[in-house]
Amino acid sequence: MNNSSRPETFHISTYGCQMNLADSSTLASTLTTRGYRRVEDESQADLVILNTCSVREKAEERVFGRLGELYHYKKSRPGLKVAVVGCMAQRLGSELMRRAPHVDFVLGTDRLFELPDAIEGIEGTSAVMTAFGHENLDQIQPIKETPFSGFVTISRGCDNYCTYCIVPYVRGKERAHSADYIVDAVRRMADEGVVEITLLGQNVNSYRYHDLDFPGLLLRVAGETPIRRIRFMTSHPKDLSKRLVEVMADEPKLLPHIHLPLQSGNNRVLSKMGRLYTVEHYLKIIEYIRKKLDYVAITTDLIVGFPTETENEFEQTLAAVRAVQYDSAFMFRYSVRPGTTAARYEDDVPEADKIRRLNKLIALQQQISYKRNQRELAQTRYGLVEGFSRRSQEYLRARTEGNKTALFRSSNGTKPGDIVRIKITAADAFTLHGDLVASNS
Ligand code: SAH
Ligand code: SF4
Ligand code: F3S
Repeated sequence: MNNSSRPETFHISTYGCQMNLADSSTLASTLTTRGYRRVEDESQADLVILNTCSVREKAEERVFGRLGELYHYKKSRPGLKVAVVGCMAQRLGSELMRRAPHVDFVLGTDRLFELPDAIEGIEGTSAVMTAFGHENLDQIQPIKETPFSGFVTISRGCDNYCTYCIVPYVRGKERAHSADYIVDAVRRMADEGVVEITLLGQNVNSYRYHDLDFPGLLLRVAGETPIRRIRFMTSHPKDLSKRLVEVMADEPKLLPHIHLPLQSGNNRVLSKMGRLYTVEHYLKIIEYIRKKLDYVAITTDLIVGFPTETENEFEQTLAAVRAVQYDSAFMFRYSVRPGTTAARYEDDVPEADKIRRLNKLIALQQQISYKRNQRELAQTRYGLVEGFSRRSQEYLRARTEGNKTALFRSSNGTKPGDIVRIKITAADAFTLHGDLVASNS
């Protein structure tokens, strides 16, 4: 352990979404370049970094729980430095240090890459930095999830201000990466062996760089790089264009999966959420997508118990879920985020009702996921082999075009990174099972 003020080793824990994973990876290389050494074991670290999420209260509680543990740990490791960075640091700023005085650095979403400067006390830095506008967007690096799949961020921040959501406050306004940066990043990853890329943004459909819109960007990435499979996340229903669906239908590199958060199946609630579309508009988009694409997996995000949501309005969310027949869904209880517009509404749905609604929704979606997966039986899917099944080395695990996990018996020569054809022979609500038809790579 180094007892001087400059730490030698660091450890990063990442909470929240893929944006944070990308930021952590960039921060790690910034620190490494400056001579700090990354360690996998937190007990070996002189600097412990928590890259945090604010999207729901629970996400913040987990970090405060970790900080509680670190408080005791720090007593036995006097030189230890603790840095809280990312969305929660942005939201709470110096209040975070008041609540957890053993934290040494609080750096917001535009300032976290200045952590080495802050540690070294370089002029102009301080222990708490949350001002926006200091970020060099193109310094953020693409990240690999596996050696064969990765993420490239196409835009940061969000201008939508859905009334329940903290993201625009903690991530700032929407900023697009240049198309050249994105194309170069994808090309570089493909050259390093990445087969499948996911383009990331809070609302990819509003991407614009000079004259280039999102479908145009997809065509450039597909046409100008050797990448074989392209996904993207997240689509906002208010900005999803017919042209996007047409480009997906025409360009084989674009995988037939759309994550299209509905949030609620009731128009009054949607309007109070500031989502700027109606259920009818949403259903029309779904109809168009299913008309244009022979095979497509559609997934969503849903919130139950938004302020003033009645039982009847919640039932309409169930009805919409039945109407759409999602392949899978992320489902949440509404959580008040201080400072958002909805925080001014009374959080009047009792917690017990929120829990009951959520359980009912989850049970319904599980039945639907099962039915959707049953429809895959006897179909042939193209899967990217990502590794072995968690349970057995005899089975390999692939991710299908529709972003589903398919398990199949490994055979000679098939290895992670291959794209294989799998004939689906069995399915439950979560996983497909199949037989290898042929390996084409
Ligand atoms: N930009 C994406 C999602 C960002 S956050 C989009 O617009 O869809 C991911 C999901 O978290 C949201 O889609 C929403 O379903 C959920 N979420 C966001 N704020 C929440 C809150 N205050 N309470 C509960 N769920 C929330
Ligand atoms: Fe939040 Fe809405 Fe922006 Fe998504 S689009 S990040 S839900 S404000
Ligand atoms: Fe992501 Fe959570 Fe921040 S979802 S953008 S890490 S608030």
